[in-house]
Amino acid sequence: MTVSKADQKPPLVMSAVVAMATNRVIGDGTGLIWHLPDDLKRVKSLTMGCPLIMGRKTWQSIGRPLPGRGSIVLTRDLNWQAEGAVVVHDFESALAAAKAWIAANNPNCEKMILFGGGEIYQMGLDYCHQIDLTVIDISPDGGPDAALFPELDEASWTKHLEAKIDPAGDLPGYRYECWYRATPPRAF
Ligand SMILES: NC(=O)c1ccc[n+]([C@@H]2O[C@H](COP(=O)([O-])OP(=O)(O)OC[C@H]3O[C@@H](n4cnc5c(N)ncnc54)[C@H](OP(=O)(O)O)[C@@H]3O)[C@@H](O)[C@H]2O)c1
Repeated sequence: MTVSKADQKPPLVMSAVVAMATNRVIGDGTGLIWHLPDDLKRVKSLTMGCPLIMGRKTWQSIGRPLPGRGSIVLTRDLNWQAEGAVVVHDFESALAAAKAWIAANNPNCEKMILFGGGEIYQMGLDYCHQIDLTVIDISPDGGPDAALFPELDEASWTKHLEAKIDPAGDLPGYRYECWYRATPPRAF
């Protein structure tokens, strides 16, 4: 039996990309509450060429489609639309839209990205094989609409420290971690 190239293609995985403070705050509900240029560059390189699954509030915090990536946006509002967004109304449809985006735009892409915010991480983490996590050494209040990254069950994940960045000038220290799921994630 011959094995075609298509058969050799690794299975599609889902990866969450997130930056959180030590108290798990990821934003104030309308945007980020820090500016770490190098972390933004890392997000760009981790996500380029992939579909991003995000909530409507995260879409609005960014305000535009990120170039070279698909924007799959979850909302319960059946009338909501935005130029450059693929609008979906439930998580199953988000998965289907992300797969369709890959087929149409970048068939070599091997991952879809769970891009936040707090509600969408909560909904999608069970499907994730991997979490690329930036942990920032601050503990901000976040305000009344603060979004949080969910607590992780450490028994279900293996954590690797990838880099530690010291504070510099106005910038706090932070570290890059990669968490790999120890047991298979939910199938999609
Ligand atoms: N630090 C990071 O790495 C990072 C990453 C991403 C976002 N953020 C921050 O996180 C904050 C936003 O997070 P958030 O939790 O407030 O909002 P979010 O998760 O971005 O979006 C929530 C919205 O998603 C839609 N939604 C949620 N569940 C749904 C479902 N089951 N079916 C259909 N639609 C659904 C709803 O939209 P409708 O209200 O339109 O129905 C809901 O209001 C912002 O501050 C942003 O800057 C931080």
